[in-house]
Amino acid sequence: MHTSKRTHMCGTLDLEHTGQKVTLMGWVQRIRDLGGVIFLDLRDRTGIVQVVVDSDKSREIFKTAEKIRNEYVVAVEGTVVKREDDTVNPNIDTGKIEIAVDYIEILSNAETPPIYIEDDTEVSESVRLKYRYLDLRRPEMQRNLMFRHRITMIVRDFLDASGFLEIETPMLTKPTPEGARDYLVPSRVNPGRFYALPQSPQLFKQLLMVAGMDRYFQIARCFRDEDLRADRQPEFTQIDIEMSFVDMDDVISINEKLLAEIFDKALGIKLPLPFERLTYREAMERYGSDKPDTRFGLELVDVTDIVKDAEFKVFNQVVASGGNVRGINAKGCGEKFSRREIDGLVDFVKNYGAKGLAWMVIEEDGVKSPISKFLSEDELQGIIERMKGQPGDLLLMVADKPAVVFDALGHLRLELGDRLGLVDDSQFKLLWVTHFPLLEFDEEEGRYVAVHHPFTSPVDEDISLLDTDPGKVRAKAYDIVLNGVELGGGSIRIHRNELQQKMFEILGFSNERAQEKFGFLLEAFKYGTPPHGGIAFGLDRLVMLLARRQSIRDVIAFPKTQNAACLMTGAPAGADSGQLEELHISLDLDEEE
Ligand code: AMO
Ligand code: AMP
Repeated sequence: MHTSKRTHMCGTLDLEHTGQKVTLMGWVQRIRDLGGVIFLDLRDRTGIVQVVVDSDKSREIFKTAEKIRNEYVVAVEGTVVKREDDTVNPNIDTGKIEIAVDYIEILSNAETPPIYIEDDTEVSESVRLKYRYLDLRRPEMQRNLMFRHRITMIVRDFLDASGFLEIETPMLTKPTPEGARDYLVPSRVNPGRFYALPQSPQLFKQLLMVAGMDRYFQIARCFRDEDLRADRQPEFTQIDIEMSFVDMDDVISINEKLLAEIFDKALGIKLPLPFERLTYREAMERYGSDKPDTRFGLELVDVTDIVKDAEFKVFNQVVASGGNVRGINAKGCGEKFSRREIDGLVDFVKNYGAKGLAWMVIEEDGVKSPISKFLSEDELQGIIERMKGQPGDLLLMVADKPAVVFDALGHLRLELGDRLGLVDDSQFKLLWVTHFPLLEFDEEEGRYVAVHHPFTSPVDEDISLLDTDPGKVRAKAYDIVLNGVELGGGSIRIHRNELQQKMFEILGFSNERAQEKFGFLLEAFKYGTPPHGGIAFGLDRLVMLLARRQSIRDVIAFPKTQNAACLMTGAPAGADSGQLEELHISLDLDEEE
């Protein structure tokens, strides 16, 4: 390189630099050759600046400039000049100045890129992922990654100042109990044995509490082999936190301060503290979801008691067998929705296991409904009153097992909120959901499984229920929800061995199996374990929501596709037969695989 060292970044220059000699380096975004003068837009991650190469100044330098194509990397020496008023470009931050070039050097050539390096590209996502390094040159992607960095730094600073130690934990480890499939890594030196990549650092962070580290955090890589969606990647990042000598309120309190700090420093938004809290039960009953979007109403209403003796078979049978009848008042939709749209809603709830959707349009002089003839006047009036129905409203009801009622109405509520434009996208609504059930009965396995994970502590006053009615036991577990997305979750852990053993029993783990899987943790708990608890936030989801993106792929430098593939590197790929032999692995694939 012949040019002197870079003195400035492109996007940082302004009128105050007028007259200064500068050296810039970057990519050529755009070229305009006006004969005797060539204008180049030079780009780096801070922005774009216009540089002007004048043939009158130096023939040789002009010749170099003529060779430059889009995306060439160049170094430029020149003077910052104020632009004439009529040539100011209001579209770029540096539009009031330009660089009069004294010297230019081509640092590297570029072939025509398959992606335009600009925002709003029309290119398909698969091309963007294949040429991710070009996609990442686009200003919007650069902003996303810089924003992610900013948030990560805010987290580190805040937690450091609050006495947390950043400690790394192994990637090659034993299965952790987060409930997804593990990614396995074969061990060459231990034939037939496998490491599991961590689904989270859960067990290690608890061991760090046993080790007396008191407050731990890690920006941790986690690996889960599960079905992928817009907010799920096979490898993702958690802000992982664990604390000793705390109860639920302590963990919640420091973590809402952390979130408030992130919103303040990254977006300038002051969140009111403390955040709203709902118990799991309230969340389900009011919103049909354990991650409710509380930016709008349309809450669920229970009418079970009103219709328990109704002539309408669906209702009375469901209630007789322990089910519920609940509904939503879709305000004003009686007038707004056509019969076809209402039938569309009936089909919609069937996607969530509901067998039907009973509806009532309230009119000035009565109700229109396929079920009104099976309801007495008292029942009809009772429903309308309970659901605060007024002329023009559409009342929608589902009768079923509570889980189905909640799921169907929870999704119907979101669908209606969306269709009716009730969601204010400019709002950020943070909410804690607490007191999740500790256990849920898995019909397939015929046993109880942990809702969070098997180290989660029951609520003290429910411990006696473990023997009598395990399904009723509430956990010291909490989720943080942002605009209807589960942003993070955690719990207070069991720190006494007897209780942990009991949990394993209820979960159907034999002693041997518990020893085999988690023996090291149980062993550690014998030597003095502080009460402890923690939480993990999905960093990708947090950045996605704060950056107002629809997919976590937009805030991850090198994400994977729906098939867990990396289109750029071609991972996952086959392995050499030699490598497989060393690992004592033979493949047994069907033809089509
Ligand atoms: P949990 O399994 O709830 O808890 O995970 C915590 C948070 O991680 C994020 N997350 C994901 N993000 C992207 N892609 C995925 N596949 C994915 N899976 C989870 C979510 C979720 O809320 N060890 C416990 C935490 C604890 O108890 O302290 C844990 O991992 O935002
Ligand atoms: P049917 O008796 O199946 O003709 O249903 C009469 C009405 O009740 C239809 O509008 C159905 O959509 C509705 N319906 C049927 N099953 C249920 C249910 N489980 N919950 C609520 N509504 C239902």
